[in-house]
Amino acid sequence: MISFARVTRQVGARRLLDDVSIEISDDERIGIVGPNGAGKTTLLRLVLGLDRADEGTVNLSRGTSVGYLPQEALPSSDRTPLDLALEPGEHLAAVLLGIERVEAEIERASHRHGPEAEELQHRLADEFGTLHDQLRHHGGHQREARARRALAGLGFEPGDEIRPLSTFSGGWIMRAALARLLADPPDILVLDEPTNHLDLDAVLWLQAHLARFDGCVLVVSHDRSFLDTVVTQIVEVDRGKLVRYRGGYSDYRRQREERLIQLTAAAGAQTRRRRETEKFIERFRAKASKASQVQSRIKALGREDRIEVERAGPTLGFRFPQPKRTARVTLELDGIEKSWDGRPLYENFHLVVERGEKIALVGPNGAGKSTLLGLLAGTILPDAGDRRVGMGVRTALYTQHRAEMLDLGSTVIQNANQVGASIGETALRTLLGAFLFRGDDVQKPVSVLSGGEKSRLALALLLLDPPSVFLMDEPTIHLDVDSVDALVNALKIYEGTLCFVSHDLHFVRTLASRVIRVDHAGVEDHRGDWESYEWAQRKRAEEAAETPAARPSTAKATARPAARPSTAKAAPQPITRFLTTKATLASAARPSTARTAPAGATPPTVKQPAPDLSKSARREGKRLEAERRNELSRRTRDLRRDLEQTEREVKRLETEQAALEAQLADPAAHASTSPAELGTSHAWTNRDLKTAVDRWTELMESIEKITTEMGADPG
Ligand SMILES: Nc1ncnc2c1ncn2[C@@H]1O[C@H](COP(=O)(O)OP(=O)(O)OP(=O)(O)O)[C@@H](O)[C@H]1O
Ligand SMILES: [Mg+2]
Repeated sequence: MISFARVTRQVGARRLLDDVSIEISDDERIGIVGPNGAGKTTLLRLVLGLDRADEGTVNLSRGTSVGYLPQEALPSSDRTPLDLALEPGEHLAAVLLGIERVEAEIERASHRHGPEAEELQHRLADEFGTLHDQLRHHGGHQREARARRALAGLGFEPGDEIRPLSTFSGGWIMRAALARLLADPPDILVLDEPTNHLDLDAVLWLQAHLARFDGCVLVVSHDRSFLDTVVTQIVEVDRGKLVRYRGGYSDYRRQREERLIQLTAAAGAQTRRRRETEKFIERFRAKASKASQVQSRIKALGREDRIEVERAGPTLGFRFPQPKRTARVTLELDGIEKSWDGRPLYENFHLVVERGEKIALVGPNGAGKSTLLGLLAGTILPDAGDRRVGMGVRTALYTQHRAEMLDLGSTVIQNANQVGASIGETALRTLLGAFLFRGDDVQKPVSVLSGGEKSRLALALLLLDPPSVFLMDEPTIHLDVDSVDALVNALKIYEGTLCFVSHDLHFVRTLASRVIRVDHAGVEDHRGDWESYEWAQRKRAEEAAETPAARPSTAKATARPAARPSTAKAAPQPITRFLTTKATLASAARPSTARTAPAGATPPTVKQPAPDLSKSARREGKRLEAERRNELSRRTRDLRRDLEQTEREVKRLETEQAALEAQLADPAAHASTSPAELGTSHAWTNRDLKTAVDRWTELMESIEKITTEMGADPG
């Protein structure tokens, strides 16, 4: 259904895709992973026809409809989420248009009379019926109900769906766009980091929904558990290549690890073999330069592709400068009142943030976490109450909408210069380098940066002007797994104060020293890390279960979907037995008759007799020579036969070895054979090859010994 044939896509000096081919069929669910800036979004845009390949072709089978959720926020408008969610997809739009047209024609035809008009009316009525069947097929009649369900599932409160989009944040507009794709599903769903804007409940809802969807799904995500639940295959985009793995994210990590181990082992074996072959050539070159074996081995050595073990790309590594000492109370909110559109979020709210605290703000979307962060930062003004800032305290807000922090119109280095010109260009470049903007990358306009690259730049800018209190709203969004780890490590050793909103459990678990849960029932302040918070939650839930009526608000706070939705994840297919592969390869390479002597096999030649002898002596010499040659031939016959056979064996094993190495190095091979299987085959073949070469060497030496004994030099 989707096919890439030898596609190359280059931007600037980088090949995002380098001669890649891939086929994706109707019902496959593919998770696309890879480091930030690898080209995942570009890959999706190629599928959608929003970007073009420099070489090769991208094809979609005719008539397939595609729905796309982009990575970055869409422009808002004065339409409502329901309007957006009700917007029909390609197929449905055509049907609706058809219905409109036929209705108009029926209306016109109704004014005409006579047999011709009657026939036309019949035809139009038929067409109308067919179109309505199609409408039913697309669930057209339940469209509104479906759109409303999707909006509710994705977290819109009743009534929100008819507020203008312009009153929503980018994340909520993305949700409305997602609801649209789910209400009128296309044949192919193309989703670029759909969980970025969702809270846990909404992620679980989406997972369950996708599990029921029976079309093709292409989804870019850095969310491990989401991928594990939703996809059946992973395609990794890395340094221009696509590598395909069976199973979910965990399966991918395991197979990838395995593949690297096998590849490293195979590369080691290859190096050792090459060294041996070189030694072998050295040894026999002088004596048996005419021997086809030596020649062919020299050629084989030259032809052989070296196995390359891919090294991990550069990863982010940085630390935040420790802040100057500040007052013990860094921020204080006192008697805060805040409501949006008449809906109260905070009433008489108090909060004290002490130096060195790492506070996680958790809870469902829309409950007011970002508002709280804004109140702390001073970027959102309360309706009443005070915000007090401790002596020497400076705050910096890092938001999920980094556009607010970056100047999209200028380049990476210009952005850095605007914040940190004082440290000088060289230091700026070094800092940007640590955030993986190297060489010409710093001249890129910010508008072309990938999602993760924009986040990295925003982090770099924070470092240029370090605050004493970090206020971070979903800082891990858009970052790849390695970059999240780098951020976690930097914040772990940072002694300043941190207040953050995050749905990334790993992030919260590692960093939080205090957890504040904001939900519709109110605010709950827990002084302790995530583990103790969870423990307290559990304990309260148990107590609530014992006295069910007693604690309505706790019950609300802990309400969670009971279990994960049943998953669509396919178990990795059973590994085909290694022997199958080996046998197939062997039978393909083995000659049909093992014992026919090759045409080119030459018996060792004997030395010419000295030239100035008498005729009879020469004749005698010739006779002796012939006898010796016969004798030599007789005595070495078995050896030579063995040698020829061994040589064929060596060649066969070399071919087999090369095929296995090609498969190990070629990602596409992993769709059918596991790396472990290939690695085992490789090790076995390698062992067989070594035995064969040793045997071959032995035979050569024996023949040589006999030849020398008989006074003939095989030179
Ligand atoms: N017009 C352009 N000029 C120069 N570089 C570009 C252009 N468009 C994209 N790029 C670069 O191509 C690379 C791939 O971008 P892409 O958005 O496909 O990455 P991604 O894999 O989706 O990353 P992320 O995980 O951060 O979203 C990035 O390094 C980006 O800066
Ligand atoms: Mg992207």
